[in-house]
Amino acid sequence: MTEIDMNARASVVVMISGRGSNLAALIAACCQPDYPATIVGVISDREDAGGLKIAEAAGIDTVALQRGDFVSRSAHEAAILRHLIKIDPDLICLAGYMRILSADFVNRYQGKILNIHPSLLPKYPGLNTHQRALDAGDKEHGCTVHFVDEALDAGPVVAQSVVRIEPGDSEKSLADKVLKIEHALYVDAVRKVLTKFT
Ligand code: GRF
Repeated sequence: MTEIDMNARASVVVMISGRGSNLAALIAACCQPDYPATIVGVISDREDAGGLKIAEAAGIDTVALQRGDFVSRSAHEAAILRHLIKIDPDLICLAGYMRILSADFVNRYQGKILNIHPSLLPKYPGLNTHQRALDAGDKEHGCTVHFVDEALDAGPVVAQSVVRIEPGDSEKSLADKVLKIEHALYVDAVRKVLTKFT
């Protein structure tokens, strides 16, 4: 059996707040011998995030840093930053991380933070993207992986994937369809970024 040289791979920290299905997809990809990344840590801002269990089951170091345990937003972010500085990852993947990062944070890791967003940006930044696409009568919807900058869901796009909106679609059915394509998109986008920039 060929040994996988984990040291030759880019190190990735994944930041989550919840379920962690995109994290699970990235973990699965990192088990492939030719994938250019290894996940070296998972940071959650909620200790009840389902993704923490997924990471622990895969033997990945996790930490939960909850906003409520810090006096201010900046103290919370400073604690996350201290943790990241220790790990010193090549790339940070936001995967359902539900907090807006400060300009200082983003600038410190400029060009090194990716996010996955459930819409075809620049359409529908922010929340409730599936319902907004339905309300607008859109025929297509999808998801975007983009670099994170100071503006909300607005950094340079790395990759997008599209689904058709069918007449019977509900918010739930559309969310399910989009989530399915998110997983492959995030895996491909991380590969693309690492192959291009490292
Ligand atoms: C995904 O829909 C992602 O696009 C959005 O948050 C959700 C996270 O889902 N940013 P999961 O935790 O990866 O299952």
